[in-house]
Amino acid sequence: MKLEDIKNICVVGAGNMGHQIALQAAICGYQVKCSDVSADTLKKADAFVDSYLPGRVEKGRLTAEQAKQARTNIKFVASLEEAAGDADFVIEAATEVLSLKRKIFADLDRIAPKHAILATNSSAIVSSKIADATQRQDKVVNMHFFNPALVMKLVEVVKGEHVSEETADVTMALSKDMQKVPVLLKKEVDGFLLNRIFAAISKEAMWLLEMGVAEVEDIDNACVYGAGHPMGPFRLNDLTGLDLSYIMRMEKFRETGNPADLPNPRLVEHYMKGEYGEKTGQGWYSYSKK
Ligand SMILES: NC(=O)c1ccc[n+]([C@@H]2O[C@H](COP(=O)([O-])OP(=O)(O)OC[C@H]3O[C@@H](n4cnc5c(N)ncnc54)[C@H](O)[C@@H]3O)[C@@H](O)[C@H]2O)c1
Repeated sequence: MKLEDIKNICVVGAGNMGHQIALQAAICGYQVKCSDVSADTLKKADAFVDSYLPGRVEKGRLTAEQAKQARTNIKFVASLEEAAGDADFVIEAATEVLSLKRKIFADLDRIAPKHAILATNSSAIVSSKIADATQRQDKVVNMHFFNPALVMKLVEVVKGEHVSEETADVTMALSKDMQKVPVLLKKEVDGFLLNRIFAAISKEAMWLLEMGVAEVEDIDNACVYGAGHPMGPFRLNDLTGLDLSYIMRMEKFRETGNPADLPNPRLVEHYMKGEYGEKTGQGWYSYSKK
């Protein structure tokens, strides 16, 4: 298969990531059907498209004609059969649960045309853990978008051993055609590229804090004003959630048994107090509830 053969895209899951990936594909000229098991989520996603496109036109990012075309290109549907039945390329962006993803891929294998590539947007599950739920393992690949998917340019494409050259090439080409900047990982690795790099920075930042070398704000400032990062690791952690970091570090520790992987004492302290970051009004920084 070549990029030119892709006309219809199916996105499974219309949550945070799915509806934005679907809309980006629709803006880029693809016929998109996005499915979800939640009627409420489908309704919200559809309403989001109606509110988002006029703003793009006002800002001069899209012409009125392009926005109108994008609107007609995208459909939100409840049935996976309807969404994937004529798909040339599927992007799964459903809840991050391995058993659920395996079930969805087994269904997709039955429903989607034989030539269709089945990609997962999972942020942590490598596609080799899912591919054997299908009869087309060479066409099952990681295609990892970043949040918010309409804005963030990076896409990580992971070519596990089971993935064919053609699948990796077409996934890279489609990412570019969706106005993204894809990077190719030549093998599977936990956390892919960017999250590994961020995890290393965040771990080091927390140890520097723990060792009393510098305070939160100064460590963040070093990253912002010295390395040009848009925000420091603590500010970023307040955005992504200290609860998530705690859970991920505990999971890593359970996997490796290495005490160095345990969450740092200051992180544990915040976690135990329910101080998860911006969403609770308190994390590494304090946020006014207003
Ligand atoms: N949120 C992020 O920052 C981010 C970034 C990159 C990748 N991801 C990955 O994207 C995927 C989705 O994450 P999200 O943040 O959009 O989650 P989300 O909870 O916002 O959305 C997931 C959606 O999947 C739907 N769903 C569950 N089972 C389904 C099924 N059988 N068929 C169709 N839809 C189903 C849910 O109803 C929900 O609307 C996950 O694999 C996650 O790891 C998330």
